[in-house]
Amino acid sequence: MPELRLEHIRKYYKGLPAVAEIDYVFHPGVYGLLGANGAGKTTLLRMIVGVLQPDFGRILCNQQEISHMGGEYRRMLGYLPQEFGYYPNFTVHRYLRYLAELKAVPPELAEERIDETLEKMGLQSLKRQRMKNLSGGMIRRVGIAQSLLNDPDILVLDEPTAGLDPKERIRFRNLVSELGRERIVILSSHIVSDIECFADEFLMMKAGKQAQSGSLTQICSHIKGRVWESLETLESARRLSQEFVVSSMKNMDDGSIRVRMLSERKPAKHAEPAEPGLEDAFLYYMTR
Ligand SMILES: Nc1ncnc2c1ncn2[C@@H]1O[C@H](COP(=O)(O)OP(=O)(O)O)[C@@H](O)[C@H]1O
Ligand SMILES: [Mg+2]
Repeated sequence: MPELRLEHIRKYYKGLPAVAEIDYVFHPGVYGLLGANGAGKTTLLRMIVGVLQPDFGRILCNQQEISHMGGEYRRMLGYLPQEFGYYPNFTVHRYLRYLAELKAVPPELAEERIDETLEKMGLQSLKRQRMKNLSGGMIRRVGIAQSLLNDPDILVLDEPTAGLDPKERIRFRNLVSELGRERIVILSSHIVSDIECFADEFLMMKAGKQAQSGSLTQICSHIKGRVWESLETLESARRLSQEFVVSSMKNMDDGSIRVRMLSERKPAKHAEPAEPGLEDAFLYYMTR
């Protein structure tokens, strides 16, 4: 069973921190890395997969520094970069065959592995299609398929749900929860609802720092008492949205507006405490 340990990781670009201080331990399971665009998710993931070196701190896999492990670490990894390159004229099969070679999957195993991963991603029928003829969602699925070719112990997927339609998302969710049983799976997103139901643990990043982490229940319990709902008129709803962080507004049948907002104290006369969700927690830490 793999263990991945990040010790005080930092990365600077032109003197500015992209990742300021991350200290975290991953065990087998599915982790959701959440943060607004520019929070440092991609930079952190690139350090985890060893394409970038931290300026400070170290990353240990099963007590060994990954920078000293070379090919041994790379063979444990599967990685879907946020922007991944491909040759448009390659067929899906040729592309996967090429990547299997790069990943040093033994040639006698390659075809079997390619078929397995295509099956997992529901891509069998696209095997002979050229990459340039695929939709964004299909390309992302091919990208996820390539990350699985070497049956990795550590799977790092940067914004994997971007471009997936609802059906593809469900398939992907089932796959991820199956993979997470004995592997470390790390998924990033800037959209809470995209990974909320995938991950067992969440790590929220803000400006390169760890804003909060834990299970859904743990994270939500930290903001208990700070989420409120109130039925308002259009005018009073507008006023509240200027004063408080509003996480949602919903038009009700009777013409009133249900305002959900964050506040340390009761924000309005008729406000009632509401059960916090991950979306509320994300908003809370991002706006604090
Ligand atoms: N190669 C780079 N050169 C300079 N700045 C970079 C580079 N990569 C990322 N950054 C900066 O680092 C910060 C974090 O970026 P990134 O890791 O891509 O965040 P995220 O993936 O959460 O959107 C941003 O401010 C971004 O502009
Ligand atoms: Mg990114």
